[in-house]
Order: sequence, then C-alpha cells, then structure tokens
Amino acid sequence: MTTTLLITFLLILTLSLSSLPIPSLSQLCNPQDKQVLLQIKNQLGNPTQLASWDPSTDCCNTTWQGVSCDTDTKTYRINDLSLSNLNLPKLYPIPPSLGNLPFLAILDINNILNLVGPIPLAIVNLTKLRYLYISHTNVSGSIPEFMSQIQTLVTIDFSYNKLSGELPSSLSLLPNLVGITFNDNFLTGPIPESYGSFSNLFTSITLQRNQLSGNIPTTLAKLNLAFVDLSSNRY
Ligand SMILES: *[C@@H]1O[C@H](CO)[C@@H](O)[C@H](O)[C@H]1NC(C)=O
Ligand SMILES: *[C@@H]1O[C@H](CO)[C@@H](O)[C@H](O)[C@H]1NC(C)=O
Ligand SMILES: *[C@@H]1O[C@H](CO)[C@@H](O)[C@H](O)[C@H]1NC(C)=O
Repeated sequence: MTTTLLITFLLILTLSLSSLPIPSLSQLCNPQDKQVLLQIKNQLGNPTQLASWDPSTDCCNTTWQGVSCDTDTKTYRINDLSLSNLNLPKLYPIPPSLGNLPFLAILDINNILNLVGPIPLAIVNLTKLRYLYISHTNVSGSIPEFMSQIQTLVTIDFSYNKLSGELPSSLSLLPNLVGITFNDNFLTGPIPESYGSFSNLFTSITLQRNQLSGNIPTTLAKLNLAFVDLSSNRY
C-alpha cells in the first residue's frame, strides 16, 4: 500500500516536472547578455516598445525587438543591438550597461528623443564594436576623446543630436575608420590637423550644419576622400 502510494506519487512528480517548461536549458541566449539587456530595458524606464524583451523567453529568438545573436560562430552572444523609435516615459541617459555587452559589433541608437546626457565612458568596454550610430536623440556634451580607445570602430554616426564642443583630434588613431558622420549638432572650433593622417581606408567626412570655424587643414588633401560635406558651418 505504502509502496504503491509512493510509486504513484513519484510518477506524478516525474510527469509534472517533465511538463514544466525549463527555458534555461533550451535557450541559446547567453544568460549574462540577457541579464544586461534586462538592465538596459530597466535603465530606459521599461518602454512599451521593449515589451518583447520578456525574461521568460529566449533573447536570441527573433521576437526580441532589435536584438541579434551571433549565429555564424554559434556562440550566440549578442553582436547587434538596435534601440530605435522608443518613447521613454521620462528623460534618461544612454544606459551605461551597454558597456557590458562585450560582443557587440553594431550598436544603433536611433530616434529616441528622451535620451539625454553625455556619451558614456562605459562604451570603451565594447572592444569589438565596429559600427556605432547614435542619431536623432537629445544626447549632449562633447564627442569624447575616449572614442579612440575603441580601436575596432569602422564608422561613427552621431548625426542629429545636441553635441557641442570641438572635434576630438584622437579619432585619427583609429586604424579601421572609414567615415565620420557628425552633421546637425552644435560642434565648434576647427577640424583638427590630425584628421589629415586618417588611414587610406578613410573616405567620408560629414559635418554639415554645425558651428565649425577656422582653417580647413590642407592635410585633408592627402586623404582618399569620396565624400565631404562641410556646408552650413562658420567657414
Ligand atoms: C521563438 O518564439 C516563438 C514564439 O514564442 C516560438 O514558437 C519558437 O519556438 C521560439 N524559437 C526558439 C528558437 O526559441
Ligand atoms: C528633444 O528633441 C526634440 C526634437 O529635436 C525636441 O522637440 C525636444 O524638446 C527635446 N527634448 C529635450 C528634453 O531636450
Ligand atoms: C569595463 O569593464 C570592467 C570589467 O567589467 C569594469 O570593471 C569597468 O568599470 C568597465 N569600465 C567602464 C568605463 O565602465
């Protein structure tokens, strides 16, 4: 009798356990990456547009808006994050937790009007970042010299923000940089002389509608520029 009960009990327990979803075992998403994404969502005030970032589901499932995992190398680390068209409930800075997604190659922050404050130092930890877009936000402050620490950068687009101050001269230290797009900000001062020593990969300089002044360095003539727009400045 007791044995039968025990067996029945164990059987029921086994059956009920096996029918429980155990998502962590079947998920491709790296648990740390998922944790960081949920922090980012929180640091943006949980906007409704990120409702698909549901902790009970796999963040590498295409249902997570704007999130892509590395399927090529089968490591499934997050390598592409797009935060765009978000209506934040109030003003927030760029989430510093972004610096904790170490496999990001593409970061696209676009059209978030309640995003304010400076470009955070935390992004220097993105040591694989190739394409950085922060565009159509109210992000302000200067374009930091620490950008040159992200040696992998290929393009930087900071167009349509509230950035001010002078262009950082150290950008010329980026070996793979092909273009900068800083139009429609409040940048002042001259184009640094150092920009004449961009690598021969560098082809595009987009600076229109700022408040730049001074002499345009003659050294720029040495570059392989395919596109230049310096219009609507104070030249
Ligand atoms: C992705 O989510 C959909 C809808 O929730 C689900 O049907 C599918 O099995 C999931 N795929 C993976 C790989 O988790
Ligand atoms: C952000 O930018 C938009 C469009 O440029 C503007 O209408 C809005 O007032 C700005 N908000 C803040 C808080 O600066
Ligand atoms: C970069 O990451 C390290 C290790 O996680 C951390 O200690 C450091 O504070 C981060 N740097 C910035 C500027 O956030």
